[in-house]
Parts: sequence; structure tokens; C-alpha cells
Amino acid sequence: MISSVVKWLSEPLGRVALLIVGLTVISGAAWGINVLQTTPEQPIEFPHVRHVSMGIPCLYCHPGATRGPSAGLPSPMKCWGCHQQMEITKTSPLLPPLVAAIENGTPLRWVPVAQVPDFVQFNHRPHLAAGLNCEDCHGNVAQMTIYQNPQVMNMGWCLNCHRERSAGNPELEKKLLDCGTCHY
Ligand code: HEC
Ligand code: HEC
Ligand code: HEC
Ligand code: HEC
Ligand code: HEC
Repeated sequence: MISSVVKWLSEPLGRVALLIVGLTVISGAAWGINVLQTTPEQPIEFPHVRHVSMGIPCLYCHPGATRGPSAGLPSPMKCWGCHQQMEITKTSPLLPPLVAAIENGTPLRWVPVAQVPDFVQFNHRPHLAAGLNCEDCHGNVAQMTIYQNPQVMNMGWCLNCHRERSAGNPELEKKLLDCGTCHY
């Protein structure tokens, strides 16, 4: 038993698993907090619903999604582009943190909710290139206030969709289910 485990650990797949287990221990603690707190308190209770319903595209505030790994979050200056001229910015009880961020040149510290651990390679670009929509993974954000994950973003979730999308295409299946595609 022990010798077969040792033998397995010395094989390439075993080494990958060992590496991942090591990384999990290191990054797991921080990541676990985010998984449990699906909706942590945010510095501003930002209403997605009211911004999306007036026709602002997701990519206006999260433009990295089509270009690379990270979708990105808007800076206070991007909010200010509209909010500077709006009466509601002075009267709203929700917006003093935005005004303070602009006056002090400090960022708004949004708490990440859509997140996978560091030892997982996720990139938005190939997913959007394959024709997926934001909603396929993030749910109906257009109806949300602050963002909430519609499901846990774990390995089973990734693999389920990868299996579905590659059914009947052995070459794609091999790529999308290979450990090295997401862990390297
Ligand atoms: C393209 C213009 C635009 C941008 C960019 C924008 N907003 Fe707004 N925001 C609006 C408008 C218009 C309203 C009022 C909507 C309404 O009356 O329903 C609003 C409403 C709000 C409200 C609700 C205020 C209240 O008390 O009812 C908050 C909070 C808010 N925005 C925060 C932000 C933050 C934070 C950002 C940057 C991350 C941002 N907005 C970016 C146009 C914008
Ligand atoms: C195939 C599923 C999938 C699709 C499609 C998708 N996302 Fe994501 N998104 C994720 C995952 C997984 C993460 C966590 C990534 C991480 O931790 O590196 C994430 C993270 C994010 C984040 C927070 C961190 C960051 O900067 O990347 C934002 C914002 C985001 N997505 C917006 C979008 C928008 C907007 C779209 C559509 C244009 C979109 N996503 C499409 C799966 C997806
Ligand atoms: C006016 C700017 C704006 C628009 C438009 C917008 N968002 Fe966001 N988004 C934000 C802000 C600010 C946050 C951080 C607060 C929060 O977590 O809700 C955020 C958070 C997110 C997150 C979680 C990020 C993380 O770090 O965990 C996702 C996913 C996301 N948005 C997806 C979308 C999608 C999909 C759309 C279009 C349907 C969209 N957003 C439209 C400003 C915007
Ligand atoms: C809703 C479906 C869906 C979900 C959920 C999803 N993926 Fe994907 N993924 C795809 C599709 C479709 C492709 C593109 C396949 C192709 O090349 O045609 C892809 C491609 C990829 C690629 C690029 C492969 C390459 O080398 O071209 C990586 C890496 C990846 N996904 C990682 C992840 C990770 C990590 C997760 C979970 C955090 C995830 N995906 C969740 C559907 C999904
Ligand atoms: C499509 C992307 C994807 C593929 C392919 C993939 N994984 Fe993962 N893996 C993830 C994600 C996302 C996580 C983090 C979330 C979780 O723990 O479920 C993860 C977590 C792990 C963990 C940590 C376990 C834990 O419970 O935290 C191990 C070990 C692991 N993967 C091994 C593997 C092995 C071995 C393979 C090949 C058979 C593989 N993975 C293939 C996405 C993937």
C-alpha cells in the first residue's frame, strides 16, 4: 500500500497532485473565507440592477473579460465620470464612500466573490471566444444588487461544463478534462 502510494507520487500525475495539495494548504485558508461568505459586505451597496437596466454593458465596467484572464473592476474615476454631475451623488446615503475615494485618491476595497484559488488557471478570454455569456457562469447579474455567485465555483462545476461542451469531440474532451489545462 505505502509503496504503491510512494510510486504513484513519483509519477508525473502524482507530482502534480502533491504540488496542488501543498498549494491548497497555503491558499485554502484565504479562499475558504470567500466561499463561505457568498455575499460579504461591500464598501458601497452597488446596485447592478439599476445600472444594467439603463443599458450600461457589463464590459463597460469589466472590460478585461474579452482580453485576458481577469475581467477587472471599475475604478472610482469610472464611477465619477457619471456620478460627478449627478444630484443623487450628493443626496444618496450610499455614495459618501465614493466621494471620499475621489477626494483622497484612494481605491474602493471591493471584496472578491467570484474567485478560484491561486493554483487554478482560469482565463475569461477563451470562454468568451467560445461564445459563452457572462450569465452562463455568473447568473442573472442584471437583477442583482451586489454580486452573488449562483453556484460554488469548484472543480466539479468547471468539469461538468467542460464535459458537456466537449461531448462527441475526443480531441477537445482530452484538452478540457486534462489536469494540466487548469493546474500548471
Ligand atoms: C454610465 C453612468 C454611470 C456609471 C459609470 C456609474 N453610475 Fe451609479 N448611477 C448612475 C445613474 C444614472 C443612477 C441613478 C439610477 C436610478 O435613478 O435608478 C445611479 C445610481 C447609483 C447608486 C444608487 C444611489 C441611490 O441612493 O439610489 C449607487 C450606489 C451607484 N450608482 C454607485 C455607483 C458606483 C459605485 C459606480 C462605479 C462602480 C457607478 N455607480 C457607476 C449612473 C452611473
Ligand atoms: C466560463 C465561465 C465564465 C464566464 C463565461 C464569465 N466568467 Fe467571470 N469569472 C469566472 C470565474 C471562474 C471567475 C473567478 C476567476 C479567478 O478567480 O481567477 C470569474 C471572475 C470574474 C470577475 C471578478 C474577478 C476578475 O477581475 O476577473 C468579474 C468582474 C467577472 N468575472 C465578470 C465577468 C463578465 C462581465 C463576463 C462576461 C463578459 C464574465 N465574467 C464571463 C467565470 C466566468
Ligand atoms: C457601472 C458599473 C458596472 C456594470 C455595468 C456591471 N458591473 Fe459588475 N461590478 C461592478 C462593481 C462596482 C462590482 C463590485 C461590487 C460587487 O461585488 O457587487 C462588481 C462586481 C461584479 C462581479 C463580482 C466581482 C468579484 O470580484 O467577485 C461580477 C461577476 C460582475 N460584477 C459581473 C457583471 C456582469 C455579468 C454585468 C452585466 C450584466 C456587470 N457586472 C455589470 C460594477 C459594474
Ligand atoms: C459554462 C461552461 C464552462 C464552465 C463553467 C467552465 N468552462 Fe472552461 N471552457 C469552456 C469552453 C466552451 C471552453 C473553450 C473550448 C474550446 O477551445 O472550444 C473552455 C476553455 C477553458 C480553458 C482553455 C483551454 C485551452 O487551452 O484552450 C481553460 C484553461 C478553462 N476552460 C478553465 C476553466 C476553469 C478553471 C473553470 C472553472 C473555474 C472553467 N473553465 C469553467 C466552458 C466552460
Ligand atoms: C476545468 C478545470 C480543472 C481541471 C481540468 C482539473 N481541475 Fe482540479 N481544480 C479545479 C478547481 C477550480 C479547483 C478549486 C476548487 C475545488 O477545490 O474544487 C481544483 C482543485 C483541485 C485540487 C484541490 C482539492 C481540494 O479539494 O481543494 C486537487 C488536488 C485537484 N484539483 C486535482 C486535479 C487533478 C488530479 C486533475 C486531473 C484529473 C484536475 N484537478 C483537473 C479545476 C480543474
